[in-house]
Amino acid sequence: MKTHLIISAHPSENSFSNYLAQQLTENFQTRGWKTEWRNLYDGSFDPVLSGRDLQTLKAGNTPEAIRKEQVKMAEAELITVIYPLWWASFPAVLKGYIDRVLTNGFAYSYGPEGVKGLLGGKRVVLHTTMGNTVEEYEDKGLIDAFKASQGDEVFGFCGMTVENHLFYPQITLADEEKRNHFLEKALAAYPEL
Ligand SMILES: Cc1cc2nc3c(=O)[nH]c(=O)nc-3n(C[C@H](O)[C@H](O)[C@H](O)COP(=O)(O)O)c2cc1C
Repeated sequence: MKTHLIISAHPSENSFSNYLAQQLTENFQTRGWKTEWRNLYDGSFDPVLSGRDLQTLKAGNTPEAIRKEQVKMAEAELITVIYPLWWASFPAVLKGYIDRVLTNGFAYSYGPEGVKGLLGGKRVVLHTTMGNTVEEYEDKGLIDAFKASQGDEVFGFCGMTVENHLFYPQITLADEEKRNHFLEKALAAYPEL
């Protein structure tokens, strides 16, 4: 069965991020995909990569909490990541998830020819909500920078194919019509829907 992992990182239940995660979950499930929505704010995941984690990983073992997340990621052929832009970056909980879950040996490895991504064959779609307009960031060359630093340098680095990175500007001002328009745009990012 085709498996889709949806990772979201917004603390407010009524946020567009969580609405989008809910809609994508339902849409993919209706189409027969095994779909899991992993809400990083459900309190079950500690996002701080600790000294103990690093020691354990260095010794060749994987802490159980990390291993559980890696199993979900390993099973998924499609991974969706939904988050608000906070200080031009990921929310801390998502950054911490990436720090802890995409480990050396699971997501990438170092060899004589450099870094090798170990998660090839997986497709990734990123959805970023934001308070600013896209134009403000484009003028500063930052949309391309966000795509590089949040997509290619993380998921691409691990061998995954970043298929799409969508931005939802001025989301705090969006009325229902605008949210519906954004939802259509989001669904259109998946050829299978
Ligand atoms: C801590 C914090 C930092 C933020 N930093 C940015 C930012 O750097 N750029 C931006 O456009 N919006 C920024 N925002 C606005 C959020 O991106 C916006 O509120 C969020 O996308 C709303 O998402 P939602 O509709 O899913 O609730 C920030 C908001 C918070 C709370």
